[in-house]
Amino acid sequence: MTAARLSARELTLAYEDRTVVDRLDLAIPDGKVTVIVGPNACGKSTTLRALGRLLKPKSGAVLLDGETLAKLPTKKIAQQIGLLPQTPVAPEAITVADLVARGRQPHQHWWQQWSDADETAVTEAMERTDVAALAERAVDELSGGQRQRVWIAMALAQDTDLLLLDEPTTYLDISHQVEVLDLVRQLNHDRGRTVVVVLHDLNQAARYADHLVAMKSGEVVAEGAPSKIVTEQLVRDVFGLACVVVADPVTGSPLVVPGAPWSAAAPAPSSTPV
Ligand SMILES: Nc1ncnc2c1ncn2[C@@H]1O[C@H](COP(=O)(O)OP(=O)(O)OP(=O)(O)O)[C@@H](O)[C@H]1O
Ligand SMILES: [Mg+2]
Repeated sequence: MTAARLSARELTLAYEDRTVVDRLDLAIPDGKVTVIVGPNACGKSTTLRALGRLLKPKSGAVLLDGETLAKLPTKKIAQQIGLLPQTPVAPEAITVADLVARGRQPHQHWWQQWSDADETAVTEAMERTDVAALAERAVDELSGGQRQRVWIAMALAQDTDLLLLDEPTTYLDISHQVEVLDLVRQLNHDRGRTVVVVLHDLNQAARYADHLVAMKSGEVVAEGAPSKIVTEQLVRDVFGLACVVVADPVTGSPLVVPGAPWSAAAPAPSSTPV
């Protein structure tokens, strides 16, 4: 087996003195969709940001093609890895078209600021994410879901072999969620892209992941094909949730159904009989 293009080796990540991820080893399978799941605050975004060099490791390293990410030039990394953070911040009053066009920066040169390839990539990215009609609108005046799709368009326009998306379905209605996840699949299928996605919906994760990584407290608890690792025990261990796992009626992938139904507490005895 060849080494993964992107991997973490004994990666330790911390904010000030607080360690969030401690000596994590993780290999991102090439040409596959990897989905990371885990409870709030377990370190998913922290890990993803380190994989995209938005966060510097305290110790250990992220390796891209065998080289330490920290030692590679920023532009070279941006040509290879696209990262959509969980809460990206747009420059004030920027339009949709201008924001998406920023995804092309890593491909531009001092002698050529804008090419046909840039134009095509931006148009295609806006069409695929259903934001072409919003091109001239200001990003800060869009709805949460529209804005999220614009950010995804920007990441797509960057046209990288490796794409890291932190909760790309947040704010999206159900049909746009499915559209974005289908798009991820399609990018992976048509162009052999390696995609890493953080998701909260376990059923979407199990449906779309080739490789699923379950994290808890900064550690990988289990990883592998969803059909192999998604079990009632795993959901209990990772999320503390009682559930039943059945086969998804559409895809056959594991479907997690919370298993302890909510019931109303017994009504308090009333002091005034009616
Ligand atoms: N910029 C920061 N400064 C200090 N602490 C941070 C910072 N960002 C995250 N943390 C802390 O690091 C831990 C991991 O956060 P992280 O954002 O990686 O979690 P997550 O798994 O992505 O959670 P969520 O599902 O809520 O997005 C949390 O305890 C969080 O409070
Ligand atoms: Mg997060």
